[in-house]
Amino acid sequence: MITFYFTATGNSLAVAKKLGGALISIPQAIKSERYEYTDDVIGFVFPTYCCNVPRIVREFISKAKLKADYLFAVATYGNSMGSGGDGNEMLEFAKFAKQYGYSFNYLNAILMVDNFVDAFDIEKEIEKIPSKKINEHLETIIFAVKDRKNFVKTPSMFGKMITGFCRGLVKTQDKGLTSQKFIVNDACIQCGTCVKVCPRGNISLEDKPVFGNNCEGCYACLHICPNNAICIKNEKSVKRWKNPDVSVKEIIASNNQK
Ligand SMILES: Cc1cc2nc3c(=O)[nH]c(=O)nc-3n(C[C@H](O)[C@H](O)[C@H](O)COP(=O)(O)O)c2cc1C
Repeated sequence: MITFYFTATGNSLAVAKKLGGALISIPQAIKSERYEYTDDVIGFVFPTYCCNVPRIVREFISKAKLKADYLFAVATYGNSMGSGGDGNEMLEFAKFAKQYGYSFNYLNAILMVDNFVDAFDIEKEIEKIPSKKINEHLETIIFAVKDRKNFVKTPSMFGKMITGFCRGLVKTQDKGLTSQKFIVNDACIQCGTCVKVCPRGNISLEDKPVFGNNCEGCYACLHICPNNAICIKNEKSVKRWKNPDVSVKEIIASNNQK
């Protein structure tokens, strides 16, 4: 089994590690231009962005040549009210993958901590962890994949509406300019962590981090900065998030393009 993953703050890597198989980082697969893979089972784990699939995951799918008897994908998401929780991103994923000839057997999503600090306070998100029953949901997904179950999580009417509304946001995010809203404050000590966790190699270090025009919009730089030196105007959270089951070293190994 091969499990491809993309992660910014560790949620998706934590899920990929529990699912098992040979873990392959999507940013590293793209960097090495390795696109041909054959196995009995091939899976994907990635975060939900704007009720949809991250651009880097779509890029990989569009270039990949995958051969497997069983294909699965699991999106991690943070907010059960109206967006990822309704399963929209999995239908979007199914539609996208179909264009490239892939029909997925199992498509599910798992509620985790929401790292979208424009709207969510990480302190409150951490308080909500027990009620999200992450491990219980993950067990169900692990058993389903082991049993080669067929399943597609479908959205509610409300979820479909929100997904429609989010399409504009996806287009904006796809332009690669999300980093224009990042502010680097005086806490920056030019340690270069932001450069190393960027899955697009979009940050270079001058006096301070300088952002290019190919931002994935994943917020890895903002959350993983050890000095909390990257922020957004009107952000809802001073606290940052990194999944405790994943180390900074693992996020760097997954994403570093330099
Ligand atoms: C730009 C952006 C957009 C997001 N959009 C959604 C969304 O539409 N629905 C949702 O439930 N979570 C959304 N999230 C939250 C992430 O999907 C969630 O926190 C995910 O588990 C992060 O995974 P990672 O730790 O592997 O990076 C968004 C996060 C970011 C940074």
